[in-house]
Amino acid sequence: MSVDPYRLRRDFPPLRDGRLVYFDNACMALRPQAVIDAVTAYYTEYPACGERSLHRLGRRVDEEVSLAREAARRFLHARRVEEIVFTQNTTHAINLVAHSFPFAPGDVVVTSDQEHNSNLLPWQQLSRDGVAHRAVAFGDLEALRAGLTPAVKLVSMVMTSNLDGASIDARRTVEAVHEAGIPILLDAAQAAPHQALDVRSLDVDFLACSGHKMLGPSGTGLLYGKRDALARLRPTLVGGGTVEDSTLQGATYRQGPERFEAGLQNYAGIAGLRHAIEYLERVGREAIHAHEQRLTRKLQEGLAQYPSVTVFGPAAERRGGITSFAFAGIDVHDVCLLLDQSAGIAVRSGRHCVHSWFNAHGVEGSVRASFYLYNTEEEVAAFLGALAKVHEVLA
Ligand SMILES: Cc1ncc(COP(=O)(O)O)c(C=O)c1O
Repeated sequence: MSVDPYRLRRDFPPLRDGRLVYFDNACMALRPQAVIDAVTAYYTEYPACGERSLHRLGRRVDEEVSLAREAARRFLHARRVEEIVFTQNTTHAINLVAHSFPFAPGDVVVTSDQEHNSNLLPWQQLSRDGVAHRAVAFGDLEALRAGLTPAVKLVSMVMTSNLDGASIDARRTVEAVHEAGIPILLDAAQAAPHQALDVRSLDVDFLACSGHKMLGPSGTGLLYGKRDALARLRPTLVGGGTVEDSTLQGATYRQGPERFEAGLQNYAGIAGLRHAIEYLERVGREAIHAHEQRLTRKLQEGLAQYPSVTVFGPAAERRGGITSFAFAGIDVHDVCLLLDQSAGIAVRSGRHCVHSWFNAHGVEGSVRASFYLYNTEEEVAAFLGALAKVHEVLA
């Protein structure tokens, strides 16, 4: 099955008049009409809360949340719906683990040296509890193995980098970490939208991703946790919905994922997320990945014409739909603004929340073009044409 972006584009309202070229998908994806309709249906048909109200609106919310949890279970191939926690985004999911994991002073958490701030700062923050953070070279399994000392209690790795689209070998990484008897969290923010994931066959302990990067509503995300791994967490964000019962002296916490979902939830977002998942299932993530790689090859061929360009990261065949580049002596923000103003092309410029990598490598920033299922070869050609003019103006 291959992706027909021309047919799919009709489902995405911002693309319908053909004036926008949207290459900022690593930040946030556009949403198909089915997702927008699901969000609207919540507000127009059953705008109530879940789990508390026995009336018909409340029951419909519960039904929608259950359907969404089952869709997320299927999407990640988890064993049980109890292993799926709804969050606001990947950042929230990683923080949830960071602040609920039973760390003790002297423990160490290992990440790669190419992490989004969301998989770096939560671990750095733990230093106030005496927990240290260490980084090993991205994708370097030997360095990882060598870093797995007895003090390491958790490894948290980005699966696909939002900086350059490169992926780690997730299976071998999980195996290496497990051989040392350590649990692992995978940051799948850039993996889940673009490649089929199977948490069961990966045998990963925790996995985090964002709904809004995979066609879902803003402010939605998922935390997968293997049953035993979730059971080890001590909920830290607590309140309504997390307990069976409470007294003035204490509380009995629920056993299911709801113990991590404190307070009223983003029901519209959760309902929309199910439709995003169903949309991705219909298109197929293998086909999406192959489509993005085709576009990336074309883009990289075009960029290779510039002697002054640096393209960060691996060759097109070893990455998905993300390409970061910079021209010597040209400000990346100027490139971004001119592409937008002159040709209606949306890309990202800057450090993409991976400041630590840019600082370590003495690089100012990059222009990042990131593709999704609705992008076309024609758009890549239009981008290269507009870039040539922008380059002429700025060089
Ligand atoms: C690799 C990676 N991890 C984490 C995040 C954080 O995602 P969110 O802002 O949706 O929490 C991002 C966002 O760009 C990302 O690319």
